[in-house]
Order: sequence, then C-alpha cells, then structure tokens
Amino acid sequence: MSEKKSTSERKKVTTLALRQKKARGEVVTMLTAYDYATALAIDRAGIDTILVGDSLGMVVLGYENTLPVTMDDMIHHCRAVARGAQYALLIGDMPFMSYQASVEEAVRNAGRFLQEGGMDAVKLEGGRERLEAIKAIVQAGIPVQGHLGLTPQSVHQLGGFRAQGKSAEAAKRLVEDAEILQQAGCFSLVLESIPARLGRLVSERLEIPTIGIGAGVGCDGQVLVTHDLLGLFDRFTPRFVKKYAHLHREMAQAISAYKSEVESRTFPAEEHSVDMDDEEWQLLVKEIGE
Ligand code: KIV
Repeated sequence: MSEKKSTSERKKVTTLALRQKKARGEVVTMLTAYDYATALAIDRAGIDTILVGDSLGMVVLGYENTLPVTMDDMIHHCRAVARGAQYALLIGDMPFMSYQASVEEAVRNAGRFLQEGGMDAVKLEGGRERLEAIKAIVQAGIPVQGHLGLTPQSVHQLGGFRAQGKSAEAAKRLVEDAEILQQAGCFSLVLESIPARLGRLVSERLEIPTIGIGAGVGCDGQVLVTHDLLGLFDRFTPRFVKKYAHLHREMAQAISAYKSEVESRTFPAEEHSVDMDDEEWQLLVKEIGE
C-alpha cells in the first residue's frame, strides 16, 4: 500500500527558502549548535537554520576569544551537528585565517565545510576587504553568508567586543558593505551588535535576508548563541542576549546532588543495580569458599 504524502510534509530548508521567507515578510530563525544532541533539539523545534559558529571556541572550548579555533576544530563539530539535523539549513563558520591569507585557500577551506563537514553553506566575517574571497567561493558553487558589524575575529582591531556602526560615517560604510556583499552573491547577512535603526535600514535596502544578533527587531531574522540562550555560558552575558533558561545553575545543582548521594551511598539504589539468581550466587560462594 502506498503511503499518501501530506502537502505539509517538512522539507529541508534551502538558501532560496530563506529568501522566499523574507519576500513573504516571514521571520527567519537561526541558532548555533556544536554537537549532535543540541542540533537534534534545534532541528526538532523547527528552527530554519543552524550555524556551527566559531563561538564554539569560547562557549565549548573555553578560549578567551574565537581566534584560536582551527579548521579541524570546525569540521569535527560540523560533522556532529550534521548527524543531528535533518531539515535545518546548515552553515559552517569559517574560522580566523581560513579565508584571509589567499582567495585560493578561502575556496579550499570553504569546500571542506561541505565535503567533510556536511554543511550546506559557509559564513565569513568582513565587508569589501573580503569581496574577492566571497566571489570566488560563490563561483565554486558554495553559498556564502556574510557577517558585518561586530566581527569577533577582529576583536583586537575593534578594541574589544563593542557595538559597531554608531557614528554616521561608520554606519554609512556598513550600509555600503552590506550592498557590496549582496552584489557579490551572499545569500544572507548576519548583522551583529549595531544600532537597531541601522539594522532595520540595512534590512529594508537588501533583498537577501539579514539575520540580527543585537541588531534590533527590524532584521529579517534573529540568531543567538544557543549556550547564551540556555544560560549554559556563565563567563559573561552580552546585553543583546535573552536567557530562556539557566542550565548552568541547574547543571551545578544536579552535579552537587549526585556528589552528595554517592557520598551518602543513596546512589546507586536497587533500581539502578543488576541482580543475580540466588542459585548462581550460592554456586559462586561454594566455588570461592566464602
Ligand atoms: O560564531 C558565532 O556563533 C556567530 C554568531 C554570533 C552569529 O558568528
């Protein structure tokens, strides 16, 4: 008997689907993931796109910033995410120095995200200075998401993790960069930590969807680092983060409860233990002369 296919059957999200969402005035949802279990949960929740962000350097690997993250780190985590997510559009974040040194290296590294990491697209940071790399990656058939505003890989150049585009001059440059990236073939653009009215202005000027993180409600979509949203990363909380849970606190409570139950011998209880037939036990006792 052939199964009737429902018209509302869930489909894999594509870059085109994101653009169509923008055209229909629908909001795009995006979250980061670095492992199988989180990717599965995000995918089951119906989030449109998952970014394997180089933020993993800070929230998973414990570095001060994202600069030490390598291509091999990224590919390792991309593969885990790709095993967990079936429907979301998967975007791999190109780490520091994987696309800056030469256009050729940029294309090769972007290719690794699709070939080895199981990603559908890549993201990279920067404006006009990345034009040639972006064009070459797009020409190789790899969808590229741009990233403007606070670009964490330039933390030392920017003088810290601080909001960008606050002067008319900086905002004008950002608007120009956004248009250059769209022209270069980017399918979408992340806008991080910029004034909300600038986020709205850029979103209105572009045909491709903008995804904001600290860029206001006027963006076409929103992204958060999942560890921030879940309250799993306790070192600091950027102003633009909303914590929807406090899992670090809950994790600490659970670990303390485990410790005290082990120390008081209330864990493991009978239901966590395996029993043995009396007959077999008696045989053993006889055998070893207890
Ligand atoms: O690395 C990351 O998680 C990101 C998001 C903050 C957009 O770039």
